[in-house]
Amino acid sequence: MKIFITGVAGFIGSNLAKKLLSLGHEIYGIDNLNYGFERNIEELKSNPKFKFIYGDIGNPMVIKDYKADIIVHLASQKIPRYSNALRVIDENYLMLKNVVNKCIIDKSKIVFASTSDVYGKNTNVPFSEDSDLLLGPPQIKRWAYALSKIYGEQFIMANNDEYGLPFTIVRFFGSYGPNQNLTWWGGPQSVFINQAFKKEPIEIHGDGKQTRTFTYIDDTIEALAMCVLSEKANGEIFNIATNPDEEIAIVDLAKIIWQLINGEKDIPKFNFIPYSTFGRYEDVPRRVPNINKIKKVLNFEPKIKLKDGLIKTIEWQKKIMTV
Ligand SMILES: NC(=O)c1ccc[n+]([C@@H]2O[C@H](COP(=O)([O-])OP(=O)(O)OC[C@H]3O[C@@H](n4cnc5c(N)ncnc54)[C@H](O)[C@@H]3O)[C@@H](O)[C@H]2O)c1
Repeated sequence: MKIFITGVAGFIGSNLAKKLLSLGHEIYGIDNLNYGFERNIEELKSNPKFKFIYGDIGNPMVIKDYKADIIVHLASQKIPRYSNALRVIDENYLMLKNVVNKCIIDKSKIVFASTSDVYGKNTNVPFSEDSDLLLGPPQIKRWAYALSKIYGEQFIMANNDEYGLPFTIVRFFGSYGPNQNLTWWGGPQSVFINQAFKKEPIEIHGDGKQTRTFTYIDDTIEALAMCVLSEKANGEIFNIATNPDEEIAIVDLAKIIWQLINGEKDIPKFNFIPYSTFGRYEDVPRRVPNINKIKKVLNFEPKIKLKDGLIKTIEWQKKIMTV
């Protein structure tokens, strides 16, 4: 199949392209390299089935000439703390509109990258795909990201109703591993690994008791590839995550990373940053996935335990940091 990936030089895009090429598919990938890196796709460029397009999906002309069976739309602005709310709302909408229009013209399926952040302040964990999406007030900029993704999900479903747009929506829960962005853009684990190598105090937002469930990239990609390729995924929303019993407090994640790098006897130092530093802010206290649906419909089973995934990620990040 011909598969178009937006955000191909990013973390998930580059790993997905590698996987789909290994299965023999032809890949067009676009990226404006704002947050992605050429190093992530360097080894793919020698594959004749891979074509990289340097450009911005905000401009529909850039993708006009590439017809694919499926467009996997990963390019995105993320949490406004690391970008800004207007860009998140505006660019996420514009990119999606261009991609959806292209899919309707070409009769392609869209696979849309949504996020676990859409469950927002819902305290009823674990979150399944039909759980309530509960955001805080608009004065809190952080919700702009979740809002843009909820809008995207609704926009896709409305286009399915009106024009029969084939789709699959995936909601990722904190993925990590090789090719991740090394700043907060890539998640806390990237920053913690950096700080642990430098033996600097680890920066914890709030009291660190907030929990997350981290998914190693190989598991993320296996599930995502199933969502892209299987007809059983059509018209569905799936959480893509590891098992819920991998839930971990951020401060404990920091401790594990520190000790994997500096030895079990070394005591990490923490720098707790109060939420008030970010202006008016709300965090998500617990983020735990229910993955029964993807297990049942697509036979997905996560394989990599957190500690094993962190060891592989640390090895990769060490190499990148010393280049
Ligand atoms: N990584 C995660 O754990 C996670 C969790 C939840 C949701 N998601 C979603 O999954 C998707 C992929 O995430 P990721 O971690 O790989 O992000 P990433 O930032 O590493 O990759 C996204 C890529 O899109 C590119 N891009 C952004 N705007 C663009 C534009 N206008 N034109 C062309 N390229 C553009 C960036 O340069 C980047 O390379 C995103 O939609 C994100 O919201 C990811």
